[in-house]
Amino acid sequence: MNTESLKITGIAGSLRKDSYNRVVLKHLAQERPDSVDFSIYDLKHIPLFNGDLEENGDPEAVVVFKEAIEEADGLLIVTPEYSHGVPGMLKNALDWAASVTNENVLENKPAFVLGASPAMTGTAFAQVQVKQTLAAAGALVMQQPEVYVGQVSNKIEDGKITDEKTKQALDQSLRAFIKWVQKMNK
Ligand code: FNR
Repeated sequence: MNTESLKITGIAGSLRKDSYNRVVLKHLAQERPDSVDFSIYDLKHIPLFNGDLEENGDPEAVVVFKEAIEEADGLLIVTPEYSHGVPGMLKNALDWAASVTNENVLENKPAFVLGASPAMTGTAFAQVQVKQTLAAAGALVMQQPEVYVGQVSNKIEDGKITDEKTKQALDQSLRAFIKWVQKMNK
């Protein structure tokens, strides 16, 4: 890792056009320090995991996804919550990334998980599951700070975060993650 600059790949676990979680991700990308290269990877092209497909080599969309993780010094995931759990398409993408058949790109990867939802709990249940999946794959998951953006529909307007406390918490957590990535890559 270049100690002057580092690269973060960010993903939102939603395919929805007006996804609150993507708004949070874009906010973090915009607020990054100049020294940080922050790329957003869209999961919409990832096929359903199938070991038979994988045996013939990862599908092109998966190759691109895995490269986006591999090239990054840190992985940042903003997850929604469906039925008190991780959205299936996000779990599916992480399973492709973690599978050892064609290389587990999550191993030793510094990672940060946060999320936003209209409920008070702000994706707490989903975050636990995403962290478990990442830990099982050997990723180095930052445990603190935790960021649960609850009641998000009152905090975003026209695709922008309007709530100052939320912006502060996000900006602080991004700075903490940058430190975590630097520490884990030493
Ligand atoms: C939800 N939602 C939801 N929210 C939550 O906080 N806890 C939950 O258990 C659920 N369950 C749930 C199930 C299903 C099937 C859907 C479609 C939705 C609401 C969810 O948080 C809301 O739709 C968010 O807006 C989804 O995130 P994005 O797409 O805005 O990023």
